Amino acid sequence: MPDMKNFLNTADYSQEALERLIAAASLFKNGTDVSQPLAGRSVALVFFNPSLRTRASMQVGIYELGGNPVVLEPGGTSWTLEHRDGVVMDGDKTEHLAEFVRVLGRYVAAIGVRTFAAMQDWSEEQVDPVLKPFAKYSEVPIINLESAMHHPCQALADMMTIREKLGVARKKVSLTWAWHPKPLPMAVPNSFALAAAQMGHDVVVAQPAGYELDEELLARVRHEARLAGGSLRLTNDIDEAFAGAEVVYAKSWGSKQFYGAPEQDVAERARYREKWIVDETKMALTHRAIFMHCLPVRRNVIVTDAVIDSPASVVIDEAENRLHVQKAILAHLLTPGAEY
Ligand code: CP
Repeated sequence: MPDMKNFLNTADYSQEALERLIAAASLFKNGTDVSQPLAGRSVALVFFNPSLRTRASMQVGIYELGGNPVVLEPGGTSWTLEHRDGVVMDGDKTEHLAEFVRVLGRYVAAIGVRTFAAMQDWSEEQVDPVLKPFAKYSEVPIINLESAMHHPCQALADMMTIREKLGVARKKVSLTWAWHPKPLPMAVPNSFALAAAQMGHDVVVAQPAGYELDEELLARVRHEARLAGGSLRLTNDIDEAFAGAEVVYAKSWGSKQFYGAPEQDVAERARYREKWIVDETKMALTHRAIFMHCLPVRRNVIVTDAVIDSPASVVIDEAENRLHVQKAILAHLLTPGAEY
C-alpha cells in the first residue's frame, strides 16, 4: 500500500509524484519559492549513526522553511532505545520506541530518523527493523534519513542531479560496486537503483559474484523499470557496465552471506581490490559519463583523485541537492492540500 504520509521509500511515490518533488526542489534552489511552511513548528531529527550531509542539510532546510530542528542521538544525548516488541527490557535499553515516538509526536510536526543496518543478521535487516516501528507508532510524518534498506532522500537528490546535468531523457545509468576495506550497508545502492528505474532510466548494476543486491529489491527495480519504460541489467563485468554509460554511480556494500561475519567478507572482497575502483581507464569507456557518489567517499579506494577531481564529477552538486529535495519533502508532508 503506497504511503505518501511518510517518506520512507521512493517506491511509495509514483514517477509523477517524484517529479513534482524535484520540480519543487528546483524552485527552492533557484530562490523562486521562499515560503516558510514550517513557521512556528519543530521537526525532530533522530540520529542513531553519524552524518555530515544529512544532518546539516536537514537542520538548514528546516530553518529555511521557518521551522526549528530538534536533534536527538539515542544512546548519546537521549536514552538508549529498544525497538523490538514484547521484550523484557532488563538489558542496556532504557526506553521503548513506542513511548519515544509518541512523546516526540506531541512536540514536533515530523520526525526524521537515521538508523543504519547493524549488519548482523540479513533476515532481520531486510525488513527495516528500526524504521518500521517509527512509522507504526508515529502520528506525525516520518522521513527516512537512511535506514537498513533505503536512503530515499539521497536517491531523490541523485535523480535531481541527473536531470540538472543530463536533462529528462532516458539514460544508461550504471551503478557499480567498488572495493572498500570493510562491508557497508546496502541502503544507498538499493534506493539509487529503485529511483533510477522509477525515472525510466536503463539501469545497469555491476556487482561481483557474492555481492548481489537483495532479490526482492531487484524484482521491484525491474518492475518499476518496466512500468517507466526503462530496463534493468545485472552484470559481474565492471568494464561492460562502464561501456557507453552516461552516469556512473559508485558505492560499496557488504555481502548478505557474511552479515555477522565481517572478517569473512573482508577476506572475500580482497580479490576485487585492484579491479573494482572507478579510474580514468574505466571512465574512458563511458559516453562522457558524469561520476556520482553519495559521500563520504574514500579517495583512491572507491574512486581515484583524477576522476573525483575531474569535470565529470558531480558529487558536490549531489550533496547540495540534498538540501533542496529535503525542503520539498518537508513542504509536501507538512502542507496538506498543496501541490508538492
Ligand atoms: N550521503 C549521506 O547521507 O551523507 P551523510 O552520511 O554525511 O549524511
